[in-house]
Amino acid sequence: MTALDRLPGFRDFYPEPLPTPDAWSADLRQHVFDVWRQTSRRYGFREYDGPPLEPLELYTQKSGAEIVSQLFNFTDKGDREVSLRPEMTPTVARMVAAAERAYKKPIKWFSMPQLFRYEKQQKGRLREHFQLNCDIFGEVSTGADAEIVALLIDVLRGFGLTSEDFVIRLSSRTAWQQFFEQAGGNPTQAYDFYQVVDKLDREPSEVSGPKLQALGIQPETVQKFLLEGTPNSELASVLENLRARGLGDFVRVDYGIIRGLAYYTGIVFEAFDRKGEFRAIAGGGRYDGLVRQVSGGKLDLPALGFGMGDVVLAELLKARGKVPAFTSGVDAVVLIEDEALRSESLAVVQRLRDAGHAVDYSLVPQKADKQFKRAQELGARSTVRLESTPEGLRARIKQLSTRQERLVPADQVSL
Ligand code: HAM
Repeated sequence: MTALDRLPGFRDFYPEPLPTPDAWSADLRQHVFDVWRQTSRRYGFREYDGPPLEPLELYTQKSGAEIVSQLFNFTDKGDREVSLRPEMTPTVARMVAAAERAYKKPIKWFSMPQLFRYEKQQKGRLREHFQLNCDIFGEVSTGADAEIVALLIDVLRGFGLTSEDFVIRLSSRTAWQQFFEQAGGNPTQAYDFYQVVDKLDREPSEVSGPKLQALGIQPETVQKFLLEGTPNSELASVLENLRARGLGDFVRVDYGIIRGLAYYTGIVFEAFDRKGEFRAIAGGGRYDGLVRQVSGGKLDLPALGFGMGDVVLAELLKARGKVPAFTSGVDAVVLIEDEALRSESLAVVQRLRDAGHAVDYSLVPQKADKQFKRAQELGARSTVRLESTPEGLRARIKQLSTRQERLVPADQVSL
């Protein structure tokens, strides 16, 4: 018989303490979710979710070549072409298009879906990941772009990261579009041009140069535009907005960012660690045409947002010592040293749990010192032990950090 293993690029999440140093931590995942959720709520975002399986068409038409080549797609038993979701943006655009009348604008929503992409497994890239998505619908002003970038910064600050740990590289597809058209590019080929720019730092100039020339663009002019990095008016206004919040140190203009996905139309951005050791932590931008596409032309609603994955984030938090110490979360262990008192002890366990405390105890008879050792291993704050006294049944509650003890009637036990 062979032992069964998980699929490549998928993860098991174990509770701490971890069985091996490279295992994924369920506690760290919960911490990440907590910070994501709390920070999104502080910015007035509401949580939504959608289906993990969607019609294939939702992605083949909207997302762009790279993501489509990475789809986990198949034909279901009803002969439908379907795909696991590789990203959340087409789903949320569809949901907003279907229900926008029920909501006041701007719509500010967040979600934390698990996403699936058939990528080559490598550092920072797996075949599934969790991704915080924060999006705003119904606002054209750059105040919304600044708000989204500020939220991204504050999510990362929520993990204890500072402007020395990460930077948001801000860019603008509007600026690139103007550049392309002024340089004589054919507007219908703009996305082909963006894809060449997107790969400039990964492809040698012998590959990218001819591609640019084929689009009617001189490579030197692209280099000059990149080097100058002069903010256009929308970028200038976002920078001013962020500076007013004291968040100016977290961003810089970098036209090297253009984003691979097809639907972006305006400001785009990515978050990176300052040392440049990791892949992008997050990416996003404005996508003003997607709701119209998804609604079959029925509704036009400007939109923008970002996605932040948990994989690179966890790697960065580990590397910068920002992973908190996790405990079992047990408040008290009820020690059953006298088996004759097991029933009464169970009543105490139940009473404490009803009061909202996390309580553990030995399921089977066990030596007193073993039970106490287990309480220490679990990091319990207190132990509770029943004793028969001439006055009746008493509970001895011991606080483990101070060793202070109190004796109370068994039916009045509280922590
Ligand atoms: P994306 O750049 O494809 O954007 O993904 C956003 C983030 O998700 C990346 O920066 C990375 O942290 C993480 N990520 C992506 N693929 C993987 C993977 N295979 N393994 C681990 N992490 C990964 C989008 O998905 C857009 N839909 C984001 C967005 C929302 N734009 C507007 N609203």
